[in-house]
Amino acid sequence: MTDTPVSHILDRVLVLEMVRVTEAAAVAAAKMVGRGDEKAADQAAVTAMRTALNELYMDGTVVIGEGERDEAPMLYIGEKVGSAIGKGPRIDIALDPLEGTTITAKNGPNALAVLAIGEEGCLLNAPDVYMDKLAVGPGYPKGVIDLTKTATQNVAAVAAAKGVEPREITVCVLDRPRHADLIAELRAIGCGIQLIPDGDVAGVIATTNEDTGIDLYMGSGGAPEGVLAAAALRCVGGQFKGRLVFRNEDEKARARKWGITDLGKIYDLEELARGDCIFAATGVTDGSLLAGVKKRKDGVMTTESVVMRASSHTVRWVKAEHRKV
Ligand code: FBP
Repeated sequence: MTDTPVSHILDRVLVLEMVRVTEAAAVAAAKMVGRGDEKAADQAAVTAMRTALNELYMDGTVVIGEGERDEAPMLYIGEKVGSAIGKGPRIDIALDPLEGTTITAKNGPNALAVLAIGEEGCLLNAPDVYMDKLAVGPGYPKGVIDLTKTATQNVAAVAAAKGVEPREITVCVLDRPRHADLIAELRAIGCGIQLIPDGDVAGVIATTNEDTGIDLYMGSGGAPEGVLAAAALRCVGGQFKGRLVFRNEDEKARARKWGITDLGKIYDLEELARGDCIFAATGVTDGSLLAGVKKRKDGVMTTESVVMRASSHTVRWVKAEHRKV
């Protein structure tokens, strides 16, 4: 850790520079929307994001990335990025150049280019395993959601706090066979379920936006995506609980390798993304959070992004026109 105050470190990196990075990834991925090629879409986003990160004056370390070094040649966990390695501000980066590779390949909703940055050591080095996630938007009493309780109890608690019946609550859930019991339990309550095909970063963030009608997010998805979503909620408010899910000994070993000793721990928002952090996202395809990349008749590409900061709770919406792409 350096002695420089957290906010000062992130100031130097310039909040808006983060948008340039997610914009670059989104524009590159957008060329592959609807082409049925997930790998090519991801590769385009990864290459563009890496190039953009390497132009920033910082000593960056990827703590959540495309995978471990032996499986990901670019933006692997531990990769150093930035133009000032060894001398610039030391920044940890959690990134997903293309959150929703299948969505992009099929031209579905809510694909994003996403990243979060924090001071060194502030973002949980989550292994690439599943995480049980429970999230609610801002304005609820602390502790209203509890991962040790059932879905029924959590819906009841949120409904009571909102002053509505449980059947008036809407829960967002990834549409997966592993969620069959959860979905059946929610159906028994009679509440609304928004089933999403992919993209749970957008799903979690949707709880913070009243226009989506989504009150709660429930179910398991990628742990790295959990850290990214937590960073966003740190900035805009809301509550999040996450618990890593291990399917075998190999996954447990991977977690231990990243220094996680309590494998059953339930993580709070601040334990996933501590201190000051910045979250940035650019829409690849249209979604509840952001419009996707568009190409106008004159060849100009347009993007819509959001960049938020935990220390100030500032949320900036950025619309951009890209003429040289
Ligand atoms: P990718 O962009 O890596 O394909 O991730 C999409 C996603 O839907 C995430 O949003 C989510 O956390 C994860 O996949 C869920 O994993 P699975 O598809 O194995 O259920």
